[in-house]
Parts: sequence; C-alpha cells; structure tokens
Amino acid sequence: MRTRPIILILSFIACIFCTNCGKSGPEPASFRYQQDPKLSHTLPPRADYPAARFIVLTDPHYYHPGLGTSGPDFARYIREDRKMLALSDEILEAAASEIQKEPGDFILICGDMTKDGERINHLRIAEKISSLHPRADIYVVPGNHDVRNPEAVRYTHEGSQGVASVEPEELGEIYGAYGYDNAIARDPASLSYVAEPVNGLWLFALDSCLWRKNRAGGHPVVNGRFSDKTLKWLEDMLIQARKNNKAAIAMMHHGLVAHYPGNEKYYGEYVVDHSETIARLLAAYGVRLVFTGHFHAQDITVKQFEDLPNPVFDIETGSLVTWPCPWREITISVGQTCTIESRFIKAIDSMPEGFSDYARNFALEGTVGLGRDALKKYHVSEKGMDLLAPQIAEAYLAHLAGDEDKPDTVISAKGTGIMGRLVLFFQKDLVEGWWTDLPPADNRLVIDLESSSRQQADAF
Ligand SMILES: [Fe+2]
Repeated sequence: MRTRPIILILSFIACIFCTNCGKSGPEPASFRYQQDPKLSHTLPPRADYPAARFIVLTDPHYYHPGLGTSGPDFARYIREDRKMLALSDEILEAAASEIQKEPGDFILICGDMTKDGERINHLRIAEKISSLHPRADIYVVPGNHDVRNPEAVRYTHEGSQGVASVEPEELGEIYGAYGYDNAIARDPASLSYVAEPVNGLWLFALDSCLWRKNRAGGHPVVNGRFSDKTLKWLEDMLIQARKNNKAAIAMMHHGLVAHYPGNEKYYGEYVVDHSETIARLLAAYGVRLVFTGHFHAQDITVKQFEDLPNPVFDIETGSLVTWPCPWREITISVGQTCTIESRFIKAIDSMPEGFSDYARNFALEGTVGLGRDALKKYHVSEKGMDLLAPQIAEAYLAHLAGDEDKPDTVISAKGTGIMGRLVLFFQKDLVEGWWTDLPPADNRLVIDLESSSRQQADAF
C-alpha cells in the first residue's frame, strides 16, 4: 500500500458525503448457484481439507538497487510512499533464510512482487525466490503494481527515466514456475489460475487487478475488480472442485472484505469491488480461507452469511517491506483445524540489531511527516499539527501490526485549534476505525474449519 496521508486527509474531506466508495460499476451478473437453487444438492458435499503446511508472504515490492536509490525523484517517492524499497533485497534475503528452515508444502505470494512492475525487478525476484525454500512450490498472483505499470522508472541524480514494465503474458512467462505452467486451469480473461499444491486441495489464485486500464503517462489503477468473464470461469472451476472432491482455498491481492470500519468508505480501492458478492460466491462453494495483501496490514476478518453454512476468512498479511515486516505459517490438520502463526523479520544483514525499531520509526516518522503536510493544507496550526499527526500515525501503525488494543481516547483534539477540531469532527471515524480490530485475532489464531469457531492461538 502507498502510505498517503495527504490523500488520506484529502479523502477525509472528499468522503464526507461519500458512503459507498467501495462499489464500482454495475453488480456482476447472477451466478449459477443463485439461478438454480437445486445445484448445490446435485454437487457432492464440500470436501474436507487435506493436511497441509504452507507459508504466506506478500507485497515484497522488490526493487533492484541498480535502478538508483538517490536523486530528487527517488527521495520524493520514498517520502510519499513509506516502503523500505532500498532494503527490499536484504529483507527478502532475510525472509528466505528464515523460511528455508520451516517445513512447508508450498508458499503463497499475494502480489505486488515489484516496486512498480519494472521488468528487471520481476526477473530478479523470480530468480531470487527460486531458492526461497528447498522443497515447497511457490504460487504467485499479480498485484496492482505489477503489470503494464506506467510508473516503472529508474532514478538518476537529476530525476527519473522510464524503464520497461511487463505485459500480462510476460508475467505468466516470468512466473511460469510459480503457478502458471502447472496450473490445472487458467482463466483466458485474466492472470487467474487454479493449481493443486497438495493432493485434494485446489488453490484459486485470482488476479483481481485492473492492469487493462493502465495507460502510458498515467497512474496505475489501484482498485481491484473481477470481470464477468473471470467470475463465470471462477464459478465453473468452483463447481469442478466440488465435483472432483477437492477442498478449496483462494489467494488474491485485494482485500476480500473490509478490514476495519471505514475501510470501504475511505480506502475502497483496497477492498475488491463488489466484495460482498465475491465473498458470498466463494463461501457458497465452501471456500473458507482466502489469503490477501495490498493494504500492508496484519488483519484477519471473517464474513458470515446468514443463509450459508460456513463463513469465509480473509487472512490479510502485511508487506515484507513495511513494518512489522511479517510472513505467516499456516497449518491445516486432518482434524480440520487451521492454525495461523505470524513471524516477523527482525534482522537484516546490514542491521543485525535494531532492525524492527528502524522499520517502525521509518513508518512512523514518514506517516507523521505526511500527516503534517496534509494538515497544513487545511490551515491546521503548527501546534495542532504537532498534536494530531503523531496520533494519526500511531493509529495507522496499530492497524498495520494487527491485534489493535484500542486506547480509551483514540485521538484528542485538545489544543489543536479550530481547524484541527474541524478535521477531527468529520474524520475521527477513520482513526477510530484503524484502532478497531474486527474479529477474529490477527496474528495468532486457530480456526475450526468444520464449525468455523476460532480462538486466539494462545488459548491452545
Ligand atoms: Fe503493496
């Protein structure tokens, strides 16, 4: 995610009258399971999940240092976007050295492989992840930064110059070994595919990105949506999974559901368009686990539909290059429990000590700075900015880390002046939302896949 408090504060104002930013375009056509209520009775019951152990990481935003880490344009990019790009290579190496020690059947990477879709970055990370694990196969999907990105550039002392991005077919070739070549099926209308990483388990790797809309000279589209063609393919494959007695999980870049109150109102482009419809489709066919990225936050949110027997869990993982630099270990047992554990990169080669503090300060200071810039535009006083920006940044970081422990006062307007109070009057709900942890727990969790009850892993 781009950490953009400027946009955040602008959206503070723009969204005052907006209540439905997360919706975009007409609802998808109805599905077969809706048109034919008897369909579910003609299919075998949903299959049990087979035992599986796998690792999830996302948003590595690989950036080849040879593309430049100095100059005014690079400094501006970093200032407006708080990813630790200059350390992405080292962080990936550190993650690999940890992940290699873990048993694992497969690895999921939920998109944003690169800074901005640069071909050289795709080629480099594809090579690097080949040694991520000695045995586990890797499966990737694209993120909003990865395909046909007009902002693929190299940085110079003077500014920046465009470099080649990748077209969708190239992405399928570059990551051929990571899902595309051995797919059971590929969607002709997107970069989605289905694979069988473990016998009896189908992985629905879904391309939720709108790279078709990216135009030279413009900005890449951030929001996500599935076309009607892709949704038809998806439902056909979900039916195939049931007919073949395969349990199903899914992965995609965009959030399946809102991860905090206000997510769709203020940051609708981080939740897939028509999220309710998509979540219902997956839940209707017994998909209970969906792995996502995009917002760079550790959050698990569950969606239960009254008329469906099982809920669907959206297990969002934070970015490798944004504090707290997490990855997850998932264990599904034959007893139908799913245990989710989170790990964090705590050291890199150049910072064997203090990396976590560095990463947190990098995110915090950047967010405070951008918050101040934004508040300034609304003529909030110097003192008001000093008081408000750190509080906004702390709320944001609390959401990035997950398991938010909401304080009694999420933000105080005391001493911030008239403009400070005005901004808060309209937009306190976003700060409140970041401090609000929708159930269940975010970092350690056990889910009973049969009853769909869940407990924090500590309780076991
Ligand atoms: Fe990202």
